[in-house]
Amino acid sequence: MIGILITVSLRSKYIVNRLQESDARRAKVLHNIEYTNKMATLGRLSASVAHEINNPLAIINEKAGLINDIASYEPEFPKKDKIIALVDSITSSVERCSRVTHRLLGFGRRMEFRKEQIDMESLINDVLDFQKSEAAHRNIRVNVNTEANLQTIQSDKGQLQQVFLNLINNAYNALDKDGKIDINIRHPNTNEIEVTITDNGVGIAKKDLIHIFEPFFSTKGESGTGLGLSITKDIVEKLGGVISVTSEEGRGTCFIVNLPIERVE
Ligand SMILES: Nc1ncnc2c1ncn2[C@@H]1O[C@H](COP(=O)(O)OP(=O)(O)OP(=O)(O)O)[C@@H](O)[C@H]1O
Ligand SMILES: [Mg+2]
Repeated sequence: MIGILITVSLRSKYIVNRLQESDARRAKVLHNIEYTNKMATLGRLSASVAHEINNPLAIINEKAGLINDIASYEPEFPKKDKIIALVDSITSSVERCSRVTHRLLGFGRRMEFRKEQIDMESLINDVLDFQKSEAAHRNIRVNVNTEANLQTIQSDKGQLQQVFLNLINNAYNALDKDGKIDINIRHPNTNEIEVTITDNGVGIAKKDLIHIFEPFFSTKGESGTGLGLSITKDIVEKLGGVISVTSEEGRGTCFIVNLPIERVE
Protein backbone atom coordinates (compact mmCIF):
# COMPACT_ATOMS: atom_id res chain seq x y z
CA MET A 1 0.00 0.00 0.00
CA ILE A 2 2.74 2.48 1.06
CA GLY A 3 4.73 1.45 -2.01
CA ILE A 4 1.78 2.31 -4.24
CA LEU A 5 1.33 5.70 -2.52
CA ILE A 6 5.02 6.56 -2.99
CA THR A 7 4.88 5.54 -6.66
CA VAL A 8 1.73 7.64 -7.21
CA SER A 9 3.26 10.64 -5.43
CA LEU A 10 6.52 10.37 -7.42
CA ARG A 11 4.58 9.99 -10.64
CA SER A 12 2.42 13.08 -9.95
CA LYS A 13 5.51 15.08 -8.99
CA TYR A 14 7.05 14.08 -12.32
CA ILE A 15 3.89 15.11 -14.19
CA VAL A 16 3.75 18.47 -12.35
CA ASN A 17 7.40 19.10 -13.25
CA ARG A 18 6.75 18.27 -16.89
CA LEU A 19 3.71 20.57 -16.94
CA GLN A 20 5.75 23.40 -15.39
CA GLU A 21 8.51 22.87 -17.96
CA SER A 22 6.06 22.91 -20.82
CA ASP A 23 4.39 26.06 -19.41
CA ALA A 24 7.77 27.80 -19.24
CA ARG A 25 8.56 26.73 -22.83
CA ARG A 26 5.18 27.98 -24.01
CA ALA A 27 5.67 31.34 -22.25
CA LYS A 28 9.08 31.69 -23.93
CA VAL A 29 7.68 30.88 -27.39
CA LEU A 30 4.81 33.35 -26.85
CA HIS A 31 7.28 36.00 -25.75
CA ASN A 32 9.35 35.39 -28.93
CA ILE A 33 6.26 35.56 -31.14
CA GLU A 34 5.21 38.78 -29.47
CA TYR A 35 8.70 40.19 -30.05
CA THR A 36 8.75 39.15 -33.73
CA ASN A 37 5.29 40.67 -34.26
CA LYS A 38 6.35 43.92 -32.64
CA MET A 39 9.46 44.08 -34.84
CA ALA A 40 7.49 43.34 -38.02
CA THR A 41 4.97 46.05 -37.17
CA LEU A 42 7.74 48.45 -36.27
CA GLY A 43 9.49 47.70 -39.57
CA ARG A 44 6.34 48.34 -41.58
CA LEU A 45 5.34 51.50 -39.81
CA SER A 46 8.64 53.08 -38.98
CA ALA A 47 9.72 54.71 -42.23
CA SER A 48 6.33 56.17 -43.12
CA VAL A 49 5.60 57.43 -39.60
CA ALA A 50 9.07 58.93 -39.30
CA HIS A 51 8.60 60.73 -42.62
CA GLU A 52 5.23 62.07 -41.59
CA ILE A 53 6.58 63.31 -38.28
CA ASN A 54 9.77 64.86 -39.65
CA ASN A 55 8.05 67.67 -41.57
CA PRO A 56 5.89 69.03 -38.74
CA LEU A 57 8.90 68.62 -36.43
CA ALA A 58 11.01 70.80 -38.70
CA ILE A 59 8.24 73.43 -38.71
CA ILE A 60 7.91 73.38 -34.90
CA ASN A 61 11.67 73.76 -34.63
CA GLU A 62 11.77 76.66 -37.06
CA LYS A 63 8.89 78.52 -35.39
CA ALA A 64 10.37 77.95 -31.94
CA GLY A 65 13.62 79.43 -33.25
CA LEU A 66 11.72 82.50 -34.52
CA ILE A 67 9.96 83.03 -31.18
CA ASN A 68 13.34 82.74 -29.49
CA ASP A 69 14.85 85.36 -31.84
CA ILE A 70 11.94 87.77 -31.36
CA ALA A 71 12.01 87.38 -27.57
CA SER A 72 15.80 87.75 -27.41
CA TYR A 73 16.21 90.78 -29.66
CA GLU A 74 13.12 92.80 -28.67
CA PRO A 75 14.31 94.91 -25.71
CA GLU A 76 10.86 95.35 -24.12
CA PHE A 77 9.56 91.82 -24.72
CA PRO A 78 7.20 90.93 -21.82
CA LYS A 79 8.27 87.95 -19.64
CA LYS A 80 11.31 87.55 -21.85
CA ASP A 81 13.19 85.02 -19.67
CA LYS A 82 10.13 82.84 -19.13
CA ILE A 83 9.37 82.75 -22.87
CA ILE A 84 12.98 81.89 -23.73
CA ALA A 85 13.02 79.06 -21.14
CA LEU A 86 9.73 77.67 -22.52
CA VAL A 87 11.05 77.79 -26.07
CA ASP A 88 14.21 75.98 -24.93
CA SER A 89 12.14 73.16 -23.54
CA ILE A 90 10.16 72.94 -26.81
CA THR A 91 13.44 72.74 -28.74
CA SER A 92 14.86 69.99 -26.56
CA SER A 93 11.66 67.93 -26.89
CA VAL A 94 11.85 68.38 -30.65
CA GLU A 95 15.45 67.16 -30.53
CA ARG A 96 14.35 64.03 -28.71
CA CYS A 97 11.59 63.38 -31.27
CA SER A 98 14.03 63.73 -34.12
CA ARG A 99 16.43 61.26 -32.44
CA VAL A 100 13.60 58.72 -32.43
CA THR A 101 12.56 59.42 -36.03
CA HIS A 102 16.17 59.17 -37.23
CA ARG A 103 16.55 55.76 -35.61
CA LEU A 104 13.25 54.63 -37.09
CA LEU A 105 14.20 55.91 -40.54
CA GLY A 106 17.49 54.03 -40.34
CA PHE A 107 15.56 50.95 -39.30
CA GLY A 108 13.08 51.24 -42.16
CA ARG A 109 15.84 51.71 -44.71
CA ARG A 110 17.80 48.75 -43.43
CA MET A 111 16.20 46.09 -45.59
CA GLU A 112 19.00 45.28 -48.04
CA PHE A 113 22.03 43.42 -46.71
CA ARG A 114 25.42 43.57 -48.37
CA LYS A 115 28.09 40.91 -48.10
CA GLU A 116 31.81 41.43 -47.82
CA GLN A 117 34.82 39.94 -46.03
CA ILE A 118 35.18 41.56 -42.63
CA ASP A 119 38.06 41.63 -40.20
CA MET A 120 36.20 41.75 -36.88
CA GLU A 121 39.10 43.18 -34.89
CA SER A 122 39.47 46.21 -37.14
CA LEU A 123 35.69 46.68 -37.28
CA ILE A 124 35.58 46.82 -33.46
CA ASN A 125 38.56 49.20 -33.38
CA ASP A 126 36.85 51.49 -35.91
CA VAL A 127 33.76 51.60 -33.70
CA LEU A 128 35.87 52.30 -30.61
CA ASP A 129 37.53 55.18 -32.45
CA PHE A 130 34.16 56.98 -32.49
CA GLN A 131 34.14 57.03 -28.69
CA LYS A 132 37.85 57.57 -28.15
CA SER A 133 37.53 61.05 -26.70
CA GLU A 134 34.68 60.06 -24.37
CA ALA A 135 36.73 57.12 -23.10
CA ALA A 136 39.71 59.36 -22.41
CA HIS A 137 37.59 62.08 -20.87
CA ARG A 138 35.85 59.73 -18.44
CA ASN A 139 38.93 57.61 -17.84
CA ILE A 140 37.26 54.44 -19.09
CA ARG A 141 39.60 51.57 -19.92
CA VAL A 142 38.77 49.52 -22.97
CA ASN A 143 40.60 46.24 -23.65
CA VAL A 144 40.25 44.28 -26.86
CA ASN A 145 41.46 40.67 -26.67
CA THR A 146 41.65 38.73 -29.86
CA GLU A 147 42.32 35.05 -30.43
CA ALA A 148 45.36 34.34 -32.62
CA ASN A 149 44.62 33.51 -36.29
CA LEU A 150 41.22 35.09 -36.36
CA GLN A 151 39.38 34.45 -39.63
CA THR A 152 37.54 37.08 -41.62
CA ILE A 153 33.78 36.65 -41.80
CA GLN A 154 31.38 37.21 -44.65
CA SER A 155 28.77 39.69 -43.47
CA ASP A 156 27.47 43.26 -43.74
CA LYS A 157 29.97 45.81 -42.46
CA GLY A 158 27.61 48.77 -42.02
CA GLN A 159 25.09 46.68 -40.12
CA LEU A 160 27.73 45.18 -37.85
CA GLN A 161 29.14 48.62 -37.07
CA GLN A 162 25.64 49.61 -36.00
CA VAL A 163 25.38 46.50 -33.77
CA PHE A 164 28.65 47.12 -31.95
CA LEU A 165 28.13 50.86 -31.75
CA ASN A 166 24.82 50.25 -29.95
CA LEU A 167 26.34 47.69 -27.57
CA ILE A 168 29.44 49.74 -26.80
CA ASN A 169 27.35 52.89 -26.34
CA ASN A 170 25.17 51.07 -23.84
CA ALA A 171 28.28 49.89 -22.00
CA TYR A 172 29.56 53.49 -21.82
CA ASN A 173 26.18 54.67 -20.51
CA ALA A 174 26.29 51.99 -17.78
CA LEU A 175 29.73 53.00 -16.54
CA ASP A 176 30.86 55.51 -13.99
CA LYS A 177 34.11 57.33 -14.28
CA ASP A 178 37.03 54.82 -14.14
CA GLY A 179 34.88 51.97 -15.47
CA LYS A 180 36.10 49.17 -17.70
CA ILE A 181 34.97 47.47 -20.91
CA ASP A 182 36.45 44.14 -22.05
CA ILE A 183 35.89 42.99 -25.59
CA ASN A 184 36.83 39.44 -26.53
CA ILE A 185 36.83 38.08 -30.05
CA ARG A 186 37.24 34.35 -30.66
CA HIS A 187 36.05 31.33 -32.60
CA PRO A 188 33.92 29.11 -30.34
CA ASN A 189 33.89 26.56 -33.22
CA THR A 190 34.94 26.41 -36.87
CA ASN A 191 31.73 27.99 -38.19
CA GLU A 192 31.34 30.99 -35.92
CA ILE A 193 32.90 34.08 -34.51
CA GLU A 194 31.95 35.27 -31.02
CA VAL A 195 32.28 38.80 -29.68
CA THR A 196 31.65 39.43 -25.99
CA ILE A 197 31.35 42.91 -24.57
CA THR A 198 31.64 43.00 -20.79
CA ASP A 199 31.30 46.11 -18.66
CA ASN A 200 31.57 46.54 -14.92
CA GLY A 201 28.76 49.10 -14.83
CA VAL A 202 25.40 49.35 -13.09
CA GLY A 203 24.06 46.02 -14.43
CA ILE A 204 20.44 45.23 -15.29
CA ALA A 205 17.70 44.41 -12.77
CA LYS A 206 16.23 40.90 -13.16
CA LYS A 207 12.77 42.32 -13.82
CA ASP A 208 14.15 44.42 -16.72
CA LEU A 209 16.31 41.74 -18.28
CA ILE A 210 13.45 40.06 -20.18
CA HIS A 211 12.37 43.41 -21.66
CA ILE A 212 15.62 44.97 -22.83
CA PHE A 213 15.32 43.72 -26.43
CA GLU A 214 11.77 45.07 -26.79
CA PRO A 215 11.28 48.21 -28.90
CA PHE A 216 10.97 51.36 -26.76
CA PHE A 217 12.05 49.71 -23.50
CA SER A 218 14.48 52.07 -21.80
CA THR A 219 15.49 52.97 -18.26
CA LYS A 220 17.25 56.13 -19.45
CA GLY A 221 14.24 58.45 -19.39
CA GLU A 222 14.63 61.41 -21.73
CA SER A 223 18.04 60.36 -23.01
CA GLY A 224 17.15 56.92 -24.41
CA THR A 225 14.82 55.89 -27.24
CA GLY A 226 14.84 52.21 -26.22
CA LEU A 227 15.39 51.22 -29.85
CA GLY A 228 19.11 50.37 -29.71
CA LEU A 229 18.89 46.76 -28.55
CA SER A 230 15.77 45.82 -30.52
CA ILE A 231 17.44 47.05 -33.71
CA THR A 232 20.66 45.30 -32.69
CA LYS A 233 18.89 41.97 -32.10
CA ASP A 234 17.04 42.29 -35.38
CA ILE A 235 20.25 42.92 -37.35
CA VAL A 236 22.17 40.10 -35.65
CA GLU A 237 19.38 37.63 -36.41
CA LYS A 238 19.05 38.80 -40.02
CA LEU A 239 22.79 38.19 -40.38
CA GLY A 240 22.21 34.61 -39.17
CA GLY A 241 23.57 35.19 -35.66
CA VAL A 242 22.42 35.11 -32.06
CA ILE A 243 22.70 37.68 -29.29
CA SER A 244 22.45 36.89 -25.59
CA VAL A 245 23.05 38.69 -22.33
CA THR A 246 23.97 38.01 -18.72
CA SER A 247 23.90 40.71 -16.09
CA GLU A 248 24.08 41.26 -12.38
CA GLU A 249 22.80 44.43 -10.79
CA GLY A 250 25.63 46.49 -9.36
CA ARG A 251 28.34 44.30 -10.95
CA GLY A 252 28.01 44.63 -14.71
CA THR A 253 26.72 43.21 -17.95
CA CYS A 254 27.98 40.92 -20.69
CA PHE A 255 26.52 40.84 -24.20
CA ILE A 256 27.51 37.89 -26.39
CA VAL A 257 27.14 38.06 -30.16
CA ASN A 258 27.66 34.89 -32.20
CA LEU A 259 27.85 35.26 -35.97
CA PRO A 260 28.38 32.72 -38.74
CA ILE A 261 31.69 32.97 -40.59
CA GLU A 262 29.77 32.50 -43.79
CA ARG A 263 26.16 33.55 -44.15
CA VAL A 264 23.88 30.64 -45.07
CA GLU A 265 20.74 31.94 -46.81
N1 LIG B 1 25.47 47.44 -20.79
C1 LIG B 1 24.34 47.74 -20.14
N2 LIG B 1 24.35 47.93 -18.80
C2 LIG B 1 23.21 48.21 -18.11
N3 LIG B 1 21.99 48.33 -18.69
C3 LIG B 1 21.92 48.13 -20.02
C4 LIG B 1 23.08 47.84 -20.81
N4 LIG B 1 22.68 47.69 -22.09
C5 LIG B 1 21.35 47.90 -22.10
N5 LIG B 1 20.89 48.17 -20.88
C6 LIG B 1 19.48 48.42 -20.49
O1 LIG B 1 18.64 48.10 -21.58
C7 LIG B 1 17.81 49.21 -21.91
C8 LIG B 1 17.51 49.19 -23.40
O2 LIG B 1 18.70 49.46 -24.15
P1 LIG B 1 18.56 50.09 -25.60
O3 LIG B 1 19.94 50.21 -26.15
O4 LIG B 1 17.57 49.32 -26.38
O5 LIG B 1 17.91 51.51 -25.34
P2 LIG B 1 18.56 52.79 -24.64
O6 LIG B 1 20.05 52.60 -24.53
O7 LIG B 1 17.81 53.05 -23.38
O8 LIG B 1 18.21 53.94 -25.68
P3 LIG B 1 19.08 54.28 -27.00
O9 LIG B 1 19.78 53.03 -27.42
O10 LIG B 1 18.10 54.77 -27.96
O11 LIG B 1 20.02 55.34 -26.58
C9 LIG B 1 18.59 50.42 -21.43
O12 LIG B 1 17.74 51.52 -21.18
C10 LIG B 1 19.22 49.88 -20.14
O13 LIG B 1 18.28 49.87 -19.09
MG1 LIG C 1 21.17 51.99 -26.27
